[in-house]
Amino acid sequence: MRVCGTIAEVRAVLAGEPEVGFVPTMGALHAGHVALVQKCREECKKTAVSIFVNPTQFAPGEDLDKYPRRTESDLELCESNGADVVFLPTVDEMYRGSLTTVHVTGPSELWEGAERPGHFDGVATVVLKLFHIVQPVRAYFGLKDLQQCAVLRQMVKDLDLAIGLRFVETVRDEFGLALSSRNDYLSSSVRLEASNLHRCLQACREALLRQPNNVKSIIQEGRSTLVHQGFGVSYLALVDPVSMQEEAPARTGLRLIVAARFHGVRLIDNIAL
Ligand code: PAJ
Repeated sequence: MRVCGTIAEVRAVLAGEPEVGFVPTMGALHAGHVALVQKCREECKKTAVSIFVNPTQFAPGEDLDKYPRRTESDLELCESNGADVVFLPTVDEMYRGSLTTVHVTGPSELWEGAERPGHFDGVATVVLKLFHIVQPVRAYFGLKDLQQCAVLRQMVKDLDLAIGLRFVETVRDEFGLALSSRNDYLSSSVRLEASNLHRCLQACREALLRQPNNVKSIIQEGRSTLVHQGFGVSYLALVDPVSMQEEAPARTGLRLIVAARFHGVRLIDNIAL
């Protein structure tokens, strides 16, 4: 496995490789990231992973400084899961003198976009840069970040990028909590309770499948269950996963999305109907 710190180095290592698959990450890798790497290895001749805590996607006051960083064990995990190349740039390497931002409208505007100003500009800009650096044929993203998938799908389409996006279903712990690097902030007992978030999504799904015309009251009930369990709910909604617009009545293909604070940590999750 080659570890590259500069853009020039990663370009040189991958030059002439015909079928590079790419998994962008911010590190603190867990089994969700590993699932992306494995899928990439199955489908591509070479697997490139980037590890870069991208400052431009954190709004002021967010957790940029305390975001978990553990490069050594991340590299071990990449190596043991068969990554061929890891790109590990510094902030300076990525952004020195940079004056350009990619702004996707539409799917970026609601939900996470409304609550985290500039977040998806940061995501779209860094992912486009990484795509140009790595030049993959396919790139792998987790459905855990459903809106991120929607924004990147729109960007790839609008900018005519010849890159196939692959979306991988969310990996969860044994209690149903979606794996996230930010779960590091939660103690194990709090993590256990946090899995109520997933149970609420499942309960709403069952109710919606039984009563597809009752979206409003089912969502309202889900919300109050979460509040009773100690979640500070930002949103719970039934959306189209491409436009991210709210939809009713319930039907397959839509997804239930949720964001909530629990013991000071902001959690997001979603499931397919
Ligand atoms: P990060 O949060 O590190 O996630 C990297 C990739 O792993 C994303 O595509 C994310 O959706 C996926 N992922 C995270 N948790 C997952 C889980 N439990 N199951 C399956 N996949 C999961 O998302 C980012 O980084 C950044 O925004 C990035 C795209 C790298 C741009 O900076």
